[in-house]
Amino acid sequence: MAGIYIHIPFCKHKCNYCNFFSVASVKYRDVFVDALLREMELRKDYLTGETVNTLYFGGGTPSMLTIDEINTILDKANKLFSLNPDLEITLEANPDDLNFDKTTHLKKYTPINRFSIGVQSFFNDDLQYLDRIHSGEEARKAIENVQKAGFNNITIDLIYGIPGLTIEKWNKNLDIFFDYNIPHLSSYSLTVEP
Ligand SMILES: C[S@@+](CC[C@H](N)C(=O)[O-])C[C@H]1O[C@@H](n2cnc3c(N)ncnc32)[C@H](O)[C@@H]1O
Ligand code: SF4
Repeated sequence: MAGIYIHIPFCKHKCNYCNFFSVASVKYRDVFVDALLREMELRKDYLTGETVNTLYFGGGTPSMLTIDEINTILDKANKLFSLNPDLEITLEANPDDLNFDKTTHLKKYTPINRFSIGVQSFFNDDLQYLDRIHSGEEARKAIENVQKAGFNNITIDLIYGIPGLTIEKWNKNLDIFFDYNIPHLSSYSLTVEP
């Protein structure tokens, strides 16, 4: 069983805790997409004989890609690799990127069928501590917009171990997660990188 991970190294803002490679600039966006397509060509024999079941746009902030960019990358993957007709295609997204227009357009004009939303916490004090640029309310709205657009296959990220995040607050975060009937949760222990 094969899967493809595509890293999109752009963010609107660098959160102070994050050690994933990304830059808070889209200056090299066009150059990057061209280079990515070229790298896919160079690796076209990498998965010979394998069927690709999952394709994951991770980051960074893949929800900053345009619909055209997403479709161009997926067309290239379709030409070069043997993709399962039921391919699971995940877009990692930040809550501040997921307004209703954007989610409905993604549903209508791309084959994306799964979202991974970086909620981190539904509490504003935790989000401020983490230097996030969205509120708890915006995180809820983002989940609702994704669901209203017709996506059921969703995962969210929550971080525990944040100073100030009590067991009661953590349980409340989990309650909210369960209330939305979301099928998958990734929970991370806050790691402070050197
Ligand atoms: C690569 S990030 C991309 C997610 C997306 N850009 C966002 O911020 O919403 C994937 C997830 O890793 C987790 N993460 C990143 N840095 C972390 C850290 N230092 N400690 C714990 N979790 C971390 C966060 O939960 C984040 O949503
Ligand atoms: S947590 Fe997400 S938005 Fe923040 S810097 Fe990391 S990849 Fe970018």
